[in-house]
Amino acid sequence: MKLINGEIIDQIVDPMELTEEVAKAFKAYADGRFSMPERFGFEENGITQLYMPCRTEACIGTKMLSLVPENRKRGLPSIDGLVILNDPETGLCRALLDGKKVTAWRTGATGALAAKLLTGTEQKRLGIVGCGVQGFHQAACIANVRNINQISLYDPFKTEREMEQFAARLRQRCPEPVIEICGSAEQLVRNSDIVVTTTFATDPVLPEDQELLRGKCYIAVGSYKPYMRELPDRLFAVADAVYVDLEYACEESGDLCTRLEKGLLKRKDVLLLQDLMGSPDIPKSETVVFKTVGMALVDIFAGQYFCRKCEEKGLGIEIAF
Ligand SMILES: NC(=O)c1ccc[n+]([C@@H]2O[C@H](COP(=O)([O-])OP(=O)(O)OC[C@H]3O[C@@H](n4cnc5c(N)ncnc54)[C@H](O)[C@@H]3O)[C@@H](O)[C@H]2O)c1
Repeated sequence: MKLINGEIIDQIVDPMELTEEVAKAFKAYADGRFSMPERFGFEENGITQLYMPCRTEACIGTKMLSLVPENRKRGLPSIDGLVILNDPETGLCRALLDGKKVTAWRTGATGALAAKLLTGTEQKRLGIVGCGVQGFHQAACIANVRNINQISLYDPFKTEREMEQFAARLRQRCPEPVIEICGSAEQLVRNSDIVVTTTFATDPVLPEDQELLRGKCYIAVGSYKPYMRELPDRLFAVADAVYVDLEYACEESGDLCTRLEKGLLKRKDVLLLQDLMGSPDIPKSETVVFKTVGMALVDIFAGQYFCRKCEEKGLGIEIAF
């Protein structure tokens, strides 16, 4: 069995290639070529434990994640876990991958796929609210697949020095765009065409200003519980289209379920991003929202991609139990 750690994943990943793999996973979803039970988990003492299994013709995969927002105060990652890939015929374990790295890159590539499908090439300014692990990987992936010339960053819980360090790390991955650190979410939204939210917030992180919010693409990554929200109510008053990666995002994410309860959004108006795959004529919306909760199918496509890259480059550590 091959062990693929985070350092190797960072070394071999090509965001453009990974976004293509994520597109293949979305296409496989649209074609029904998979089986994926709803993920299950439990929450106790501030720890959410998630188990995400999936099967395709080529692979069986399971991701196990621990989510602990309080870890930030301990100087530890908020998310940790593993991805296990098994042979679909024999069931034997083939690879064990760093689950937090697979998650970060595949979620970044999912954001990049959404940006590719839902925005035009003239939308060149990216904004990231929440400059943690997901914020970094969203920026690194979207800037690689779209012609981004400016990245705005906002995170009120980071010191100036931490924001500078984040920007410096991002510059190594994306040397071309100008990187600006914003003093408010208003400034960030004003200066962005594509706004990505990557926080553990329970209250909206963007301003309730309809006119400011209009005419942009929003990619909401953070909320995975009914009590978690990043998007403001007013956004749903101006949004022309709302997409999700999984239908159960409507129950799981407070960004959607609280708006469905309040009647600010209708279930029939929530569309699957997968349904745009292969469509020659994607409707361009002025104001568009994509809410992702993440799916195991994408994890196993990403996991297989990392395994192939390791094979090509002779990387990964062979282990036997
Ligand atoms: N949709 C998916 O597939 C997917 C995948 C992975 C993680 N996530 C979710 O993304 C969120 C972020 O995860 P992470 O690993 O980046 O965590 P992280 O702790 O590394 O980063 C979160 C960042 O958000 C900032 N933040 C918190 N509240 C904020 C606010 N009100 N305004 C601006 N910034 C704020 C924090 O200071 C921190 O820097 C979590 O909720 C996680 O569960 C979603």
